[in-house]
Amino acid sequence: MKGMVFTEFLGMVEAQFGLSVVDEMIERSGFARGGVYASTGTYPHEELVGMVATLSAMTGVPVHDLVNAYGKHLFRRLAASFPQYVERASSAFEFLASIDGYIHVEVRKIYPDAELPRFTHRTSADGRSMELEYRSPRRFDALAHGLLEAALAHYKEPGTVERVELADGQGSRFIVRKPA
Ligand code: HEM
Repeated sequence: MKGMVFTEFLGMVEAQFGLSVVDEMIERSGFARGGVYASTGTYPHEELVGMVATLSAMTGVPVHDLVNAYGKHLFRRLAASFPQYVERASSAFEFLASIDGYIHVEVRKIYPDAELPRFTHRTSADGRSMELEYRSPRRFDALAHGLLEAALAHYKEPGTVERVELADGQGSRFIVRKPA
């Protein structure tokens, strides 16, 4: 994973739990690089998974909740750093429809070694719901869930995001619903 995914995570943990928790989490996780990530570098995604598991053991917050919260934090950071992606869409559904065919395509141009998930999307005939199928060998489903919820919040659109595990075990289907 790109280093920015790690540095943003460490930033969130520092803001929420303090620097001493960051230090202890890094030490207890036992990875040789000792928490030093360059934002443009590339590192094994297992290190992020390992740090989240350590943080969960330290704080008692379930892994899923930590990763979901991180998705929300990451969205706000991405939207601030790359405003062009959120500004070109005038609604949450328009934005979500552009993740796979536009945003992550642009990401790959900047970082050719980016490890990106695949998304397909389908909007219902009445326009009230959208289904996104997420597939990734890294299985950051909870991260995707948090990102999708944060996208709704960004466009100030009330709605819910339901996650259903895919039958082939390769990801999740997310159903984004606007209130009736
Ligand atoms: C709601 C919108 C978005 C969703 C649901 C989403 C989903 C994801 C997920 C789940 C990952 C983790 C990798 C994986 O699962 O295999 C990822 C990686 C990434 N995404 Fe997105 N993304 C969104 C928007 C964006 C935006 C706006 C940017 C801005 C540039 C962005 C840039 C990246 C980058 C740089 C990575 C890291 C790739 C790597 O580590 O190699 N994403 N995305």
